[in-house]
Amino acid sequence: MAARNFIPNETIDEVRSNNDIVEVIIECGVPLKQVGRNYKGLCPFHQEKTPSFSVSQERQVFKCFGCETGGNVIHFIQKHEGKTFLEAIEWLAERANIPLPTKDTKITARHKQINELSELNKFAVKYYHELLRTGQHSQHAREYLKNRGVRSQTISFFNIGYAKKQRRDLVKAATHQGWTVQQLVDAGLIKNEEHGPQDRFWNRVLFPINNAQGVPIGFGGRSLSNEHQPKYLNSPGTILYNKSRILYNLDKARQSITKNQSALLVEGYMDVLMLQQNGIENVIASSGTSLSEEHASLLKRFTPEVVIVFDGDASGLQAAQRGLQRLIAENIRVRIALMPKGDDPDSFVKENGVDGFNELIEKATNLIEFQIQSAIQNKNIRHPDVKSKVVKDICQILVNINNRVELTEYVKYTIHELDLDEGLLWSELRNLGLKNNTPIPKLPHRKIGSKKLSDRERIEEQFVQSLIQVPELIPRIKTQFDYRDLTNAHFVEIAKLLWDASSDEKPVDIQQILNTCEDDQLKNFISEALLSRLDSSKHKLRIDGYLYLLKGFMIQDLERSIKSNMEETDDYESLDKRRLILSNQRKDLIKKLRSEKGNESPKNLPDMEISFTERCSKIARRNNK
Ligand code: CTP
Ligand code: MN
Repeated sequence: MAARNFIPNETIDEVRSNNDIVEVIIECGVPLKQVGRNYKGLCPFHQEKTPSFSVSQERQVFKCFGCETGGNVIHFIQKHEGKTFLEAIEWLAERANIPLPTKDTKITARHKQINELSELNKFAVKYYHELLRTGQHSQHAREYLKNRGVRSQTISFFNIGYAKKQRRDLVKAATHQGWTVQQLVDAGLIKNEEHGPQDRFWNRVLFPINNAQGVPIGFGGRSLSNEHQPKYLNSPGTILYNKSRILYNLDKARQSITKNQSALLVEGYMDVLMLQQNGIENVIASSGTSLSEEHASLLKRFTPEVVIVFDGDASGLQAAQRGLQRLIAENIRVRIALMPKGDDPDSFVKENGVDGFNELIEKATNLIEFQIQSAIQNKNIRHPDVKSKVVKDICQILVNINNRVELTEYVKYTIHELDLDEGLLWSELRNLGLKNNTPIPKLPHRKIGSKKLSDRERIEEQFVQSLIQVPELIPRIKTQFDYRDLTNAHFVEIAKLLWDASSDEKPVDIQQILNTCEDDQLKNFISEALLSRLDSSKHKLRIDGYLYLLKGFMIQDLERSIKSNMEETDDYESLDKRRLILSNQRKDLIKKLRSEKGNESPKNLPDMEISFTERCSKIARRNNK
């Protein structure tokens, strides 16, 4: 991440655009044949007999439909020549005879330091890992991990290490390699004490902590005995490591999180290790800190749901409670899975296996219900004073929910649990300043892992694809649609990139997005969209069509939820009014769809008896052809 900042984005794109992708690929020994407007060949990245490797000269991207690899010429060189991003740029710059700024002139002091310390951390990870693997004096650390059930592959996968008992071991090894004491201090690896520099970690098993891109930025160190305190010692905050921005294992878990549309949040390193070892990959840990706003917004980029898996003891519960409001504020669905008393995920999965663990996750309670239950628990609500206090506590929870449909549901839940009068609860909430706005509720997100998209997701997919194909339309679309209203987190992520990259003055440059994109799935999606360019004259029409459909879905959601809440609420009148307005909006939308889409629209749009969804999907299928 830091490395690519040496070179200005404009230079990167100059290098890219001066290296024709078709020429470069052929020069790299991959024969290509022109087929239609694209080039085809046998994919160099996997074994195949029939060509599924496509290259677009016009769009300057490649994509293999067999092994799902894609990107621009830089990514091709990275992958084909096994180079880092920077090395690929250097290679291509030389080929195109473009001088690159030398490091000394362009790197700011900060970038330089970030880069150096990342390299130093890489060195330390490797050093400690080697020691654990083969060190003469590491036998007891190996035994320790073995006794805790950590397999050899797991040790490699997480690059787990060991710091020796000597207090100056790393200092010596690193300075011998040319690192300075100051650099080691800056990286948080050693401390400068009166009697000289001392290693921060000694006689500990070390868990490297990576940033979301997989670059090591710090360590968590586990002591091997009760006498050696603290049990865990972590790196201090450094220019690289900021506790409130880092989630342990996010780099390795992110793909699985996106695929599952759900992240499991656990407390500790060992929990992550043991779950991963048992094939549960979408796990991250807050590692002893409470969840910050930054954690929440980071998670929001990958998943619509977080399941908190915390120890069944009081401190775990409290820790869980704190961070939750932040997730709720990010509109992340939160569920809580509680371990039996005395267990943590590590011990639980050892005792109960993966099936037992998965069962627990499935049963995880929705956060708000959980909070309501906690407020009631162990209270003698037959006593009027106690009951009234409990009601007040619950209202404090409920008043934060700004989605009225959800709120109504929890109100119903509460009056059922406490045997209360509903009107009373509402008036209590109004006293607490309940606002009357009713934002559009989000539909639960669907899984995309199986590749089976719902009709709605297919429209979202085509919508996002079209935006990639005609990025000049994005500034206008941005004013009409909020990307967060997409239901598939994967498409939300892509749309966010597009939205962030667009401004009034400058059209969105998709190649620029590709240049800086580090996520393979995203690279593939973008390349595929660029390769399958459709007739551009109809783009505007198509995108407007998708927009209508998406808005139709949103209105339909709201309408449906309101309908289902109508019978049981006392606010019947206002709900019904709202329903009517929405219903009319939807009719208008359909009318508009008919008239504006002209020839594109289905000839005889059937009336209300055929579902709106069905009609949408018909249009989507037609447009897809
Ligand atoms: N932690 C910490 N400093 C401590 C204790 C805990 O930073 N002194 C963090 C660690 O990231 C740890 C997590 O909080 O993994 C959870 O702590 P705890 O439940 O006490 O430890 P476990 O993860 O269960 O570790 P182990 O199984 O090794 O005892
Ligand atoms: Mn534990």
